[in-house]
Amino acid sequence: MKLNIAVLPGDGIGPEVTAQAVKVLKAIAMEFNHVFTFNEALVGASAIDKTGNPLPEETISICDKADAILFGAIGNTKYDDNPTAEIRPEQGLLGLRKTFDLYTNIRPVIAYEDLLNKSSLKIKQIKGTDILIYRELASGIYFGEKKFSDTEASDICVYKRSEIERIAHLAFKAAQGRKRKLTLVDKANVLASSRLWRSVVTEIAAEYPDVALNCLFVDNAAMELIINPRQFDVILTENMFGDILSEEASVIVGSIGLLASASIGEKHVMFEPIHGAYSKATNKGIANPIASILSAAMLLEHFGLYDEASLVRDGVDKSLKLHITTPDLNTKYDNISTSKVGDFIEDFINNPDETNLNFTNIHLGQSTII
Ligand code: IPM
Ligand code: MN
Repeated sequence: MKLNIAVLPGDGIGPEVTAQAVKVLKAIAMEFNHVFTFNEALVGASAIDKTGNPLPEETISICDKADAILFGAIGNTKYDDNPTAEIRPEQGLLGLRKTFDLYTNIRPVIAYEDLLNKSSLKIKQIKGTDILIYRELASGIYFGEKKFSDTEASDICVYKRSEIERIAHLAFKAAQGRKRKLTLVDKANVLASSRLWRSVVTEIAAEYPDVALNCLFVDNAAMELIINPRQFDVILTENMFGDILSEEASVIVGSIGLLASASIGEKHVMFEPIHGAYSKATNKGIANPIASILSAAMLLEHFGLYDEASLVRDGVDKSLKLHITTPDLNTKYDNISTSKVGDFIEDFINNPDETNLNFTNIHLGQSTII
Protein backbone atom coordinates (compact mmCIF):
# COMPACT_ATOMS: atom_id res chain seq x y z
CA MET A 1 0.00 0.00 0.00
CA LYS A 2 1.12 3.54 -0.69
CA LEU A 3 0.53 6.05 2.06
CA ASN A 4 1.45 9.68 2.13
CA ILE A 5 1.80 10.67 5.78
CA ALA A 6 2.08 14.27 6.96
CA VAL A 7 4.29 14.38 10.05
CA LEU A 8 3.73 17.28 12.43
CA PRO A 9 6.14 16.82 15.35
CA GLY A 10 5.24 20.16 16.99
CA ASP A 11 6.73 21.26 20.30
CA GLY A 12 8.40 19.98 23.45
CA ILE A 13 8.71 16.19 23.43
CA GLY A 14 6.61 16.00 20.22
CA PRO A 15 9.61 15.65 17.85
CA GLU A 16 11.31 12.95 19.98
CA VAL A 17 8.28 10.72 20.31
CA THR A 18 7.11 11.24 16.74
CA ALA A 19 10.54 10.21 15.46
CA GLN A 20 10.03 6.82 17.16
CA ALA A 21 6.61 6.36 15.55
CA VAL A 22 8.11 7.19 12.14
CA LYS A 23 10.93 4.73 12.81
CA VAL A 24 8.36 2.03 13.55
CA LEU A 25 6.28 2.86 10.47
CA LYS A 26 9.39 2.69 8.28
CA ALA A 27 10.20 -0.75 9.70
CA ILE A 28 6.64 -1.88 8.95
CA ALA A 29 6.83 -0.53 5.40
CA MET A 30 10.05 -2.44 4.85
CA GLU A 31 8.79 -5.68 6.39
CA PHE A 32 5.46 -5.68 4.52
CA ASN A 33 6.55 -4.04 1.26
CA HIS A 34 4.54 -0.87 1.63
CA VAL A 35 5.55 2.54 0.38
CA PHE A 36 5.08 5.13 3.09
CA THR A 37 6.24 8.66 2.34
CA PHE A 38 6.63 11.19 5.13
CA ASN A 39 6.28 14.95 4.73
CA GLU A 40 7.17 17.04 7.73
CA ALA A 41 5.41 20.30 8.51
CA LEU A 42 5.45 22.97 11.20
CA VAL A 43 2.79 23.44 13.87
CA GLY A 44 2.42 25.04 17.31
CA ALA A 45 4.99 27.16 19.13
CA SER A 46 7.79 26.06 16.83
CA ALA A 47 5.72 27.25 13.86
CA ILE A 48 5.07 30.58 15.60
CA ASP A 49 8.81 31.00 16.17
CA LYS A 50 9.59 30.39 12.51
CA THR A 51 6.60 31.89 10.71
CA GLY A 52 4.52 33.83 13.25
CA ASN A 53 1.63 31.42 12.62
CA PRO A 54 0.81 28.28 14.69
CA LEU A 55 -0.76 26.68 11.61
CA PRO A 56 1.01 27.94 8.47
CA GLU A 57 -0.72 27.64 5.07
CA GLU A 58 1.99 25.25 3.93
CA THR A 59 1.16 22.89 6.80
CA ILE A 60 -2.52 22.93 5.89
CA SER A 61 -1.67 22.15 2.30
CA ILE A 62 0.70 19.27 3.20
CA CYS A 63 -1.97 17.79 5.49
CA ASP A 64 -4.71 18.30 2.94
CA LYS A 65 -2.79 16.26 0.37
CA ALA A 66 -1.83 13.51 2.84
CA ASP A 67 -3.68 10.25 3.47
CA ALA A 68 -3.07 10.68 7.21
CA ILE A 69 -1.54 13.12 9.64
CA LEU A 70 0.79 11.97 12.41
CA PHE A 71 0.81 14.61 15.11
CA GLY A 72 3.27 14.99 18.02
CA ALA A 73 2.41 17.56 20.67
CA ILE A 74 2.06 21.29 21.05
CA GLY A 75 2.40 23.86 23.76
CA ASN A 76 5.01 25.95 25.47
CA THR A 77 4.99 27.25 29.01
CA LYS A 78 5.83 30.77 27.86
CA TYR A 79 2.29 30.95 26.45
CA ASP A 80 0.66 29.17 29.39
CA ASP A 81 2.03 31.89 31.65
CA ASN A 82 0.77 34.67 29.39
CA PRO A 83 -3.03 34.66 29.35
CA THR A 84 -3.23 37.68 27.05
CA ALA A 85 -1.12 36.26 24.19
CA GLU A 86 -3.35 36.35 21.12
CA ILE A 87 -1.34 33.94 19.04
CA ARG A 88 -1.07 30.62 20.87
CA PRO A 89 0.41 27.22 19.96
CA GLU A 90 -2.87 25.40 20.72
CA GLN A 91 -4.47 27.30 17.83
CA GLY A 92 -2.35 25.06 15.60
CA LEU A 93 -3.93 21.86 16.88
CA LEU A 94 -7.43 23.28 17.22
CA GLY A 95 -7.09 24.80 13.73
CA LEU A 96 -6.21 21.39 12.28
CA ARG A 97 -9.17 19.76 14.01
CA LYS A 98 -11.51 22.46 12.70
CA THR A 99 -10.03 22.84 9.21
CA PHE A 100 -10.29 19.13 8.53
CA ASP A 101 -13.44 18.66 10.62
CA LEU A 102 -11.88 15.86 12.68
CA TYR A 103 -15.02 15.41 14.73
CA THR A 104 -14.45 12.02 16.33
CA ASN A 105 -11.51 11.45 18.64
CA ILE A 106 -11.11 7.84 19.71
CA ARG A 107 -9.02 7.22 22.83
CA PRO A 108 -8.55 3.60 23.94
CA VAL A 109 -7.90 3.04 27.65
CA ILE A 110 -6.54 -0.45 28.28
CA ALA A 111 -5.02 -1.70 31.53
CA TYR A 112 -2.02 -3.73 30.40
CA GLU A 113 -1.44 -6.83 32.53
CA ASP A 114 2.27 -6.04 32.75
CA LEU A 115 1.64 -2.55 34.03
CA LEU A 116 -1.08 -3.14 36.60
CA ASN A 117 1.35 -2.39 39.41
CA LYS A 118 2.35 0.96 37.83
CA SER A 119 -1.04 2.51 38.41
CA SER A 120 -1.61 4.35 41.66
CA LEU A 121 -4.98 2.58 41.80
CA LYS A 122 -5.52 -0.88 43.24
CA ILE A 123 -4.84 -3.79 40.87
CA LYS A 124 -8.16 -5.48 41.64
CA GLN A 125 -9.95 -2.27 40.70
CA ILE A 126 -8.33 -1.77 37.29
CA LYS A 127 -7.52 -5.29 36.06
CA GLY A 128 -9.34 -6.01 32.80
CA THR A 129 -10.20 -2.38 32.01
CA ASP A 130 -10.84 -1.89 28.30
CA ILE A 131 -12.60 1.35 27.42
CA LEU A 132 -12.97 3.29 24.19
CA ILE A 133 -13.60 6.97 24.72
CA TYR A 134 -15.39 8.72 21.85
CA ARG A 135 -14.69 12.41 22.36
CA GLU A 136 -16.37 14.97 20.11
CA LEU A 137 -13.48 17.03 18.79
CA ALA A 138 -14.61 19.73 16.40
CA SER A 139 -17.22 21.68 18.34
CA GLY A 140 -18.47 22.64 21.81
CA ILE A 141 -16.86 25.07 24.20
CA TYR A 142 -13.48 24.79 22.46
CA PHE A 143 -14.84 26.46 19.36
CA GLY A 144 -17.72 28.67 20.54
CA GLU A 145 -17.45 32.44 20.63
CA LYS A 146 -14.84 33.70 23.09
CA LYS A 147 -14.61 37.05 24.79
CA PHE A 148 -11.82 38.25 26.97
CA SER A 149 -11.32 41.50 28.84
CA ASP A 150 -9.79 42.52 32.14
CA THR A 151 -13.15 42.41 33.82
CA GLU A 152 -15.07 39.70 32.04
CA ALA A 153 -14.47 36.64 29.90
CA SER A 154 -16.68 34.02 28.34
CA ASP A 155 -16.64 30.84 26.27
CA ILE A 156 -19.80 29.73 24.59
CA CYS A 157 -20.67 26.04 24.23
CA VAL A 158 -22.80 25.35 21.17
CA TYR A 159 -23.74 21.94 19.78
CA LYS A 160 -25.83 21.34 16.72
CA ARG A 161 -28.00 18.22 16.49
CA SER A 162 -26.06 17.10 13.39
CA GLU A 163 -22.75 17.32 15.28
CA ILE A 164 -24.08 15.02 17.98
CA GLU A 165 -25.69 12.60 15.53
CA ARG A 166 -22.60 11.94 13.44
CA ILE A 167 -20.35 10.94 16.34
CA ALA A 168 -23.15 9.11 18.15
CA HIS A 169 -23.64 6.75 15.20
CA LEU A 170 -19.91 5.97 15.16
CA ALA A 171 -19.91 5.32 18.90
CA PHE A 172 -22.94 3.01 18.73
CA LYS A 173 -21.31 1.09 15.86
CA ALA A 174 -18.10 0.74 17.85
CA ALA A 175 -20.09 -0.60 20.82
CA GLN A 176 -21.77 -3.16 18.54
CA GLY A 177 -18.35 -4.63 17.82
CA ARG A 178 -17.45 -4.75 21.53
CA LYS A 179 -19.43 -5.38 24.72
CA ARG A 180 -22.47 -3.52 23.39
CA LYS A 181 -22.54 -0.92 26.17
CA LEU A 182 -22.54 2.80 25.53
CA THR A 183 -22.28 5.38 28.28
CA LEU A 184 -23.16 8.94 27.40
CA VAL A 185 -21.41 11.36 29.74
CA ASP A 186 -23.00 14.78 30.05
CA LYS A 187 -24.16 17.40 32.53
CA ALA A 188 -27.80 17.38 31.51
CA ASN A 189 -28.93 18.48 34.97
CA VAL A 190 -27.31 21.89 34.37
CA LEU A 191 -26.33 22.47 30.73
CA ALA A 192 -28.72 22.98 27.82
CA SER A 193 -26.14 21.63 25.38
CA SER A 194 -26.00 18.43 27.44
CA ARG A 195 -29.77 18.14 27.34
CA LEU A 196 -29.60 18.17 23.54
CA TRP A 197 -26.89 15.48 23.66
CA ARG A 198 -29.08 13.35 25.90
CA SER A 199 -32.20 13.63 23.80
CA VAL A 200 -30.41 13.06 20.47
CA VAL A 201 -28.39 10.10 21.73
CA THR A 202 -31.44 8.51 23.39
CA GLU A 203 -33.33 8.88 20.11
CA ILE A 204 -30.51 7.28 18.10
CA ALA A 205 -30.28 4.41 20.61
CA ALA A 206 -33.55 3.08 19.16
CA GLU A 207 -31.64 2.29 15.95
CA TYR A 208 -29.17 0.14 17.92
CA PRO A 209 -31.38 -2.11 20.06
CA ASP A 210 -28.47 -4.49 20.70
CA VAL A 211 -26.51 -1.74 22.49
CA ALA A 212 -27.38 -0.85 26.09
CA LEU A 213 -27.26 2.91 26.59
CA ASN A 214 -26.82 4.50 29.95
CA CYS A 215 -26.29 8.16 30.77
CA LEU A 216 -24.06 9.53 33.52
CA PHE A 217 -23.43 13.03 34.74
CA VAL A 218 -19.80 13.97 34.22
CA ASP A 219 -19.02 14.52 37.91
CA ASN A 220 -20.36 11.08 38.72
CA ALA A 221 -18.56 9.57 35.70
CA ALA A 222 -15.27 11.03 36.92
CA MET A 223 -15.71 9.10 40.16
CA GLU A 224 -17.00 5.87 38.60
CA LEU A 225 -14.05 5.83 36.19
CA ILE A 226 -11.68 5.49 39.10
CA ILE A 227 -13.81 3.33 41.41
CA ASN A 228 -14.96 0.80 38.82
CA PRO A 229 -13.52 1.37 35.35
CA ARG A 230 -14.45 -2.15 34.19
CA GLN A 231 -18.13 -1.18 34.05
CA PHE A 232 -17.41 0.93 30.94
CA ASP A 233 -17.23 -0.23 27.35
CA VAL A 234 -17.66 2.76 25.00
CA ILE A 235 -17.91 6.23 26.52
CA LEU A 236 -19.39 8.96 24.34
CA THR A 237 -18.98 12.55 25.37
CA GLU A 238 -18.55 16.15 24.28
CA ASN A 239 -15.26 17.87 23.65
CA MET A 240 -14.21 19.20 27.04
CA PHE A 241 -15.55 16.35 29.18
CA GLY A 242 -13.68 13.96 26.88
CA ASP A 243 -10.46 15.91 27.30
CA ILE A 244 -10.68 15.75 31.08
CA LEU A 245 -11.96 12.17 31.42
CA SER A 246 -9.36 10.73 29.05
CA GLU A 247 -6.52 12.32 30.98
CA GLU A 248 -8.04 11.02 34.20
CA ALA A 249 -8.32 7.56 32.64
CA SER A 250 -4.58 7.53 31.96
CA VAL A 251 -4.12 6.94 35.71
CA ILE A 252 -5.70 3.52 35.20
CA VAL A 253 -3.13 2.66 32.53
CA GLY A 254 -0.18 3.78 34.61
CA SER A 255 1.19 6.63 32.51
CA ILE A 256 -0.23 9.27 30.22
CA GLY A 257 2.69 8.36 27.99
CA LEU A 258 0.78 5.27 26.87
CA LEU A 259 -2.47 6.75 25.58
CA ALA A 260 -2.90 6.99 21.82
CA SER A 261 -5.71 8.48 19.79
CA ALA A 262 -7.24 8.69 16.34
CA SER A 263 -9.11 11.77 15.14
CA ILE A 264 -11.46 11.00 12.32
CA GLY A 265 -13.20 13.27 9.84
CA GLU A 266 -15.06 12.53 6.61
CA LYS A 267 -11.97 13.05 4.45
CA HIS A 268 -9.02 13.40 6.78
CA VAL A 269 -7.58 11.46 9.69
CA MET A 270 -5.03 12.40 12.29
CA PHE A 271 -3.26 10.25 14.87
CA GLU A 272 -1.89 11.78 18.02
CA PRO A 273 -0.81 10.84 21.54
CA ILE A 274 -3.16 12.31 24.14
CA HIS A 275 -0.30 13.82 26.14
CA GLY A 276 0.94 17.34 25.61
CA ALA A 277 4.34 18.90 24.95
CA TYR A 278 5.74 18.29 28.47
CA SER A 279 8.26 21.09 27.84
CA LYS A 280 10.33 20.30 30.94
CA ALA A 281 11.29 16.92 29.52
CA THR A 282 12.31 18.17 26.07
CA ASN A 283 15.46 16.56 24.67
CA LYS A 284 16.18 14.64 27.87
CA GLY A 285 15.38 11.29 26.29
CA ILE A 286 12.86 10.53 29.04
CA ALA A 287 9.62 11.01 27.10
CA ASN A 288 7.64 7.82 26.62
CA PRO A 289 7.19 7.20 22.86
CA ILE A 290 4.61 4.45 23.27
CA ALA A 291 1.56 6.72 22.94
CA SER A 292 2.96 7.96 19.66
CA ILE A 293 3.87 4.44 18.49
CA LEU A 294 0.39 3.17 19.39
CA SER A 295 -1.08 6.12 17.48
CA ALA A 296 0.89 4.84 14.49
CA ALA A 297 -0.69 1.40 15.10
CA MET A 298 -4.13 3.05 15.01
CA LEU A 299 -3.12 4.67 11.72
CA LEU A 300 -2.28 1.25 10.27
CA GLU A 301 -5.59 -0.18 11.49
CA HIS A 302 -7.46 2.71 9.94
CA PHE A 303 -6.12 1.64 6.54
CA GLY A 304 -6.98 -2.02 7.17
CA LEU A 305 -3.36 -3.01 7.83
CA TYR A 306 -4.27 -5.24 10.77
CA ASP A 307 -1.29 -7.62 10.68
CA GLU A 308 1.04 -4.67 10.56
CA ALA A 309 -0.71 -2.98 13.48
CA SER A 310 -0.69 -6.11 15.55
CA LEU A 311 3.04 -6.53 14.99
CA VAL A 312 3.53 -3.01 16.33
CA ARG A 313 1.30 -3.81 19.32
CA ASP A 314 3.21 -7.03 19.95
CA GLY A 315 6.44 -5.01 19.93
CA VAL A 316 4.96 -2.60 22.46
CA ASP A 317 3.76 -5.49 24.64
CA LYS A 318 7.19 -7.08 24.50
CA SER A 319 8.91 -3.83 25.44
CA LEU A 320 6.61 -3.52 28.45
CA LYS A 321 7.15 -7.13 29.45
CA LEU A 322 10.92 -6.75 29.29
CA HIS A 323 10.89 -3.33 30.97
CA ILE A 324 12.37 -1.68 27.90
CA THR A 325 10.56 1.48 28.88
CA THR A 326 11.23 5.09 29.79
CA PRO A 327 11.56 6.20 33.42
CA ASP A 328 7.84 7.03 33.83
CA LEU A 329 7.28 3.25 33.88
CA ASN A 330 10.63 1.73 34.51
CA THR A 331 11.82 0.51 37.83
CA LYS A 332 14.26 -2.04 36.51
CA TYR A 333 16.67 -0.09 34.30
CA ASP A 334 17.41 3.58 34.62
CA ASN A 335 18.98 4.14 31.23
CA ILE A 336 16.30 3.34 28.70
CA SER A 337 15.79 6.44 26.57
CA THR A 338 12.97 7.47 24.25
CA SER A 339 14.93 6.42 21.20
CA LYS A 340 16.00 3.09 22.73
CA VAL A 341 12.35 2.14 23.17
CA GLY A 342 11.83 3.02 19.51
CA ASP A 343 14.92 1.03 18.51
CA PHE A 344 13.70 -1.98 20.45
CA ILE A 345 10.27 -1.96 18.80
CA GLU A 346 11.85 -1.40 15.38
CA ASP A 347 14.15 -4.33 16.03
CA PHE A 348 11.23 -6.48 17.14
CA ILE A 349 9.41 -5.70 13.88
CA ASN A 350 12.48 -6.75 11.90
CA ASN A 351 13.04 -9.94 13.95
CA PRO A 352 9.86 -10.81 15.86
CA ASP A 353 11.03 -14.32 16.66
CA GLU A 354 14.53 -13.50 17.79
CA THR A 355 13.69 -11.29 20.72
CA ASN A 356 13.21 -13.52 23.72
CA LEU A 357 12.36 -13.27 27.36
CA ASN A 358 15.70 -14.44 28.67
CA PHE A 359 17.52 -11.17 28.30
CA THR A 360 20.09 -12.89 26.11
CA ASN A 361 19.18 -11.33 22.83
CA ILE A 362 17.55 -8.01 23.39
CA HIS A 363 18.89 -5.68 20.78
CA LEU A 364 18.72 -2.00 21.40
CA GLY A 365 19.90 -0.62 18.09
CA GLN A 366 23.55 -1.55 17.96
CA SER A 367 23.84 -2.45 21.63
CA THR A 368 22.57 -5.46 23.53
CA ILE A 369 21.34 -5.63 27.11
CA ILE A 370 22.35 -8.85 28.79
C1 IPM B 1 -5.60 17.01 24.05
C2 IPM B 1 -4.93 18.29 24.48
C3 IPM B 1 -5.50 19.45 23.69
C4 IPM B 1 -6.98 19.53 24.01
C5 IPM B 1 -4.81 20.79 23.95
C6 IPM B 1 -3.31 20.72 23.75
C7 IPM B 1 -5.40 21.90 23.12
O1 IPM B 1 -5.07 18.48 25.85
O2 IPM B 1 -5.50 16.66 22.85
O3 IPM B 1 -6.20 16.34 24.89
O4 IPM B 1 -7.37 20.18 25.00
O5 IPM B 1 -7.76 18.96 23.26
MN1 MN C 1 -6.00 16.82 26.92
